[in-house]
Amino acid sequence: MLLLGIETSCDDTATAVVRDGRSVLSNVSTNQDAFHAKYGGIVPEIASRRHASLLSAAVDDALVRAGTSLDALDGIAVTSGPGLIGSLVVGVATAKALAFATSKPLYAVNHLHGHLFAAFLDTDVTPPYPFLALLVSGGHSQLVAVESARDLRVIAKTRDDAAGEAFDKTARLLGLPFPGGPALERLALDGDPKAIAFPRYRPEPGALDLSFSGLKTSARYFLASDAARDVSPADVAASFQAAIVDVLIDRVQRALEAGSYRAIVLSGGVAANMSLAGAFRRVGETRGLPAFVPERRFCTDNAAMIAAAAERRGDVDLRDPLTLTADPNLPFA
Ligand code: KG4
Ligand code: ZN
Repeated sequence: MLLLGIETSCDDTATAVVRDGRSVLSNVSTNQDAFHAKYGGIVPEIASRRHASLLSAAVDDALVRAGTSLDALDGIAVTSGPGLIGSLVVGVATAKALAFATSKPLYAVNHLHGHLFAAFLDTDVTPPYPFLALLVSGGHSQLVAVESARDLRVIAKTRDDAAGEAFDKTARLLGLPFPGGPALERLALDGDPKAIAFPRYRPEPGALDLSFSGLKTSARYFLASDAARDVSPADVAASFQAAIVDVLIDRVQRALEAGSYRAIVLSGGVAANMSLAGAFRRVGETRGLPAFVPERRFCTDNAAMIAAAAERRGDVDLRDPLTLTADPNLPFA
């Protein structure tokens, strides 16, 4: 199948053309960071307005770069949730209009399913089922048992903040520019991860839930304390990043002890973090399991992953009606 993917759930206006859920013929993304940076976070109204003005051109761009046309497509895949309602509506309305105008099938995709199937893009070796996925983004942090393309089970969630949110908020306290995660990672390169013993959330044995609010608060108190004067911002960044990575890796280890999997997959924007990706790969090596970490451009929000997820889940029976609506709180399963 040749699918056009459209992703506008947050602040990236993204389109892609993907063949058979795997070969990425084009992957276009217009980053809105410059428009949100001065507010220190994403402003939903700005995001939806930018999507509205950019999306038509982004669709054309994806088709031209892929050397194809609307007529050649087998369907249109779009993120229908979860996300910012105003942003989602722009993508869903555009996808519906294209599907109506071309009489092609419409496939609604859950944004989080998209992140899971990013691991199938532009690679000859794909994760075998069942696999364990650690999905870490700005809005979500969860462990998912992926039994098959249609059988996805969330086995752990964060009790409070998402990992990316914790990165972003602490980066802001450190005076780093938005988006904070990548900036904090760059600063951490020159720091000592053992400089400050930030707390690691450990639930009772066997439990898998995640939490980052205690860590975030601890970083805030530390930065406001006298002790902060004796430590470099790079040490704070490295120690904070180490605490997040430890918590995530501990929960992956626990989940692997509690279940039986043939591979592990890391996905979501925070998967772009090299320290986390390195630790994740080491878990795979020690346990003799293949570890899949998508290319950086497929970790952060993109439309190729939406087309990939539609392909894996969407045979003809699963096409969606043109009455489809965006759902900011779309449940995972
Ligand atoms: O998946 P994504 O692009 O959007 C959501 O669905 O949320 O994830 C964005 C999140 C942001 O919180 C960003 O700071 C974080 O991923 N992020 C990183 C890195 N790159 C992106 N966090 C830590 N290290 C990175 N290199
Ligand atoms: Zn995302």
